[in-house]
Amino acid sequence: MDKIVIVGGRKLQGDVQISGAKNAALPILVSSLLVDGWNTFHNIPDLLDIKTVKKLLSSFGVKIEGGETVRINAGGITSCEASYDLVRTMRASILVLGPLVARMGEARVSLPGGCAIGARPVNLHIQALRDLGAEVTLKDGYVEAKASRLKGATIYFDIATVTGTENIMMAATLAKGQTILKNTAREPEIVNLAEVLIGMGARIRGAGTDVIVIDGVDSLHPVEASVIPDRIEAGTFLLAAGMTGGDIRVLGCDALHLEALIAKLRDAGMRIELEGDAVRATGGVTVRSVDVKTLPHPGFPTDLQAQIMAMMAIANGLSVITETVFENRFMHVSEMMRMGADIVIQGKSAIVRGIPKLHGAPVMATDLRASASLILAGLAAEGTTTLSRVYHIDRGYQQIEKKLSALGADIRRISG
Ligand code: UD1
Repeated sequence: MDKIVIVGGRKLQGDVQISGAKNAALPILVSSLLVDGWNTFHNIPDLLDIKTVKKLLSSFGVKIEGGETVRINAGGITSCEASYDLVRTMRASILVLGPLVARMGEARVSLPGGCAIGARPVNLHIQALRDLGAEVTLKDGYVEAKASRLKGATIYFDIATVTGTENIMMAATLAKGQTILKNTAREPEIVNLAEVLIGMGARIRGAGTDVIVIDGVDSLHPVEASVIPDRIEAGTFLLAAGMTGGDIRVLGCDALHLEALIAKLRDAGMRIELEGDAVRATGGVTVRSVDVKTLPHPGFPTDLQAQIMAMMAIANGLSVITETVFENRFMHVSEMMRMGADIVIQGKSAIVRGIPKLHGAPVMATDLRASASLILAGLAAEGTTTLSRVYHIDRGYQQIEKKLSALGADIRRISG
């Protein structure tokens, strides 16, 4: 299995281009299930999760061509079953449930099961689909859903769930009558998906707020659309500038999607300048400690919690990082401690006492964002860090080691 080897201590400098957002590309590719005909989607990132969703869609008989621009046609669906083998490697596979039931009248999708960052149930997806009139049963580890035609309903989500909102928003586009979704998640990826669906002829308003209203239509038509830039990838590079005292221009990103992070980076002493669709981040000599609490958008994203913790590990002072979105999303802590970090976990919070320097060590990636945080830690550390289980990073960061070495990092991938 591949490893990433980093020799820390270099200041990162230069420009880096951000890829399309994984979390927008996944539901957008899945939305093709709602349509008969060729859709064209641009700015699709080259990631393991994208390969997985393509494999999943192909297993239904969907035709897919291309790479960064994908042409995709779900005109000839031959199966409505998402097998355990595909779903277990990517929890977002549950996104196919709503669109398949809405267009094909049935779906059988393996339950995603446990996950490294908490239990992550799909009860809200299932309940909302029942509210739309689907008959949903759980059998042999699979969710089975049937409906001759979904019926619009008013649905209240107990928790603002991102993929839950996307799943049900897609399903409701083809339901009979009006659906009102309340307490919906407000992430930019949901807005991106809604724009794609509207381009297909769906009648949706309110995406990006906590109430989404969908007037069902009888059918949708193919669309050509683009995926937004990946705000989590962009945020990770901004943090890389802060952690190495560097100067990085992150190109092709939307600063409005990064407001919560940018506010924290400025508090931490970094200079952040907005230049059109670029964000320039300059790190100072020292990092000031800041407290962080993760929240649904527009709050601080849980997907950047591990990475900002890496920065706080070398900050001047004490920082409290509270994770409110997922339980058990602190697996990177024990690995960072192997690099000398002084961190204590108390319930939902990590108390981080900054130290002047981390030191390199062999560390293991436990999940996608944890791996990014360990790479950041390695870039700032003295000596060599070897990161194993690199496949986690490949799920969500396109060519991270190439992008970092172009900025001056001493980082390479070794196989074996
Ligand atoms: C999405 C993102 C993920 C991000 C997360 C939170 C994708 C593909 N993934 O994941 O990168 O970390 O949002 O921003 O977009 N919950 C339930 N029942 C449900 C669904 C969710 O209890 O049926 C809970 C979860 O356990 C969690 C919270 O709701 O505590 C939010 O999770 P959710 O927004 O659903 O995360 P995902 O959509 O899986």
